Amino acid sequence: MQRIHLGLTSEKDKSYDIVIDRGVFANIASDLRMKRFAEKYVVITDKKVGKLYSKKLIDALKREELYLGKIVVPVGESSKSVEQFSECLEDMVGLGANRKTGIIALGGGVVGDLGGYVAASFMRGIEYVHVPTSLLAMVDSSIGGKVGIDLKAGKNLAGAFWHPKKVYIDPDVLRTLPQKHWRAGLGEALKYGAIKERPLWEFFEKHIELWKKKPNDFLPSEWETVSEMIARCAQIKVNVVMKDEREGNVRQILNYGHTFAHVVEHMSDYEVVHGEAVAVGMRMAAALAVEMRFMPQTEYDRQNDLLDALGLGKTKTKGLIKDFVKHMRKDKKAKGDLRVVLVSRLGTCYQQMGQFGIAVEEKIVKKVIEQGEWVDDVEVVDMSQPSSSFQPQTVSSVEQKRALDDVSSTWDGVTSGSYSPSQSTSTSYGAPLSSTSFVGETDLQKRLREMRERAEAKRQYREQSGGAGGLNSSEGAGLGSGGGFLPG
Ligand code: GLY
Repeated sequence: MQRIHLGLTSEKDKSYDIVIDRGVFANIASDLRMKRFAEKYVVITDKKVGKLYSKKLIDALKREELYLGKIVVPVGESSKSVEQFSECLEDMVGLGANRKTGIIALGGGVVGDLGGYVAASFMRGIEYVHVPTSLLAMVDSSIGGKVGIDLKAGKNLAGAFWHPKKVYIDPDVLRTLPQKHWRAGLGEALKYGAIKERPLWEFFEKHIELWKKKPNDFLPSEWETVSEMIARCAQIKVNVVMKDEREGNVRQILNYGHTFAHVVEHMSDYEVVHGEAVAVGMRMAAALAVEMRFMPQTEYDRQNDLLDALGLGKTKTKGLIKDFVKHMRKDKKAKGDLRVVLVSRLGTCYQQMGQFGIAVEEKIVKKVIEQGEWVDDVEVVDMSQPSSSFQPQTVSSVEQKRALDDVSSTWDGVTSGSYSPSQSTSTSYGAPLSSTSFVGETDLQKRLREMRERAEAKRQYREQSGGAGGLNSSEGAGLGSGGGFLPG
């Protein structure tokens, strides 16, 4: 036998600076010229951020002779796909990038995760810098080197630890951030107060009126408070990552609410954005902690009061509780178990034998989800299945079965017009057909009715099209608006 040892203890220094400075955006190119992280740069951005900020950055890069090209991806989580990732790599080749090329990830969490992963993979890894433009990316995803994409099975299931050379945070760019994303970012920011720093939680409470505002309405002094908030969150993240870069234990606290959040995002087809899902997850985790008697009710109330004031974390997930829990097990952070981070008191995470990932029993998780009504527990109709397998009546709990009986018995009443229609928003089940609800109809009854409508739409569509093909959501919407498959 021959044993050959490959010793590789001396890793390169991966330290980097995170600059938080109003107006720093204008100085990025000149700073990059001085730092010489790379010879030239490819800017990766999305359509929306690109429109707002790429020209200014690219002009400056050109002046510094640092510009190689630009890759623009669609807005939203769908860009964190294998296909988009592969396209970016091909584009890098097309732009003539080489090992000395750097990437500038200009955008929110999606662009940062994708751009960072392209940097980690292209020619076995090139340098990159983050220019986060969303609050969520500023306080969390641009710091700590986690980059990656989603797989069909779940969020962030392919990725790497690949640190940027520098992070440039210019709070002023938040001016153009839509309020939905501002609030979602607050969901992630509040997490730091909950897991690590009670005074930060108090700071969030103290400035509640500011967080409720639209970024474009902040007064000059308020921008200072926003900058302080970002810096305090970023500092906590830095401290945690420095202790445990690869998430052996302590870094897991950054995942407070995340094991739930990733499922909320996944099951909503990423309609619920990450920060919003984290807020939902924080509520669920806190409910679990109370149920397990690790957190007093007063702390639970205090956490949720702040979330309530910001209108965060009330989204109900559509689907079955059993699927929700199954997906929780798939989360890479869960390692096959049901493992979550829990807070015992705002500012302090609960530990068991020094570990922050707490194993929880499935039946308790299910009970908490059921009690909190976090998941509607109604089967989502898969419109791509043949009509013979269409089972709109699949309802999981006894209570809901009873509701189904109720709606069945009133169904004839609906069709004969004993309910009076009133306007409401439609749900996002399969192909949304109807924007009408009925007075006196419960939420569940409405969803069941909508399932029936879709089944009927599907049947009619098959008849009209000679039975060919499935019904995708855009076809469904078309049928709904044009065909009027409403009862009565
Ligand atoms: N967003 C969690 C982490 O970076 O560890």
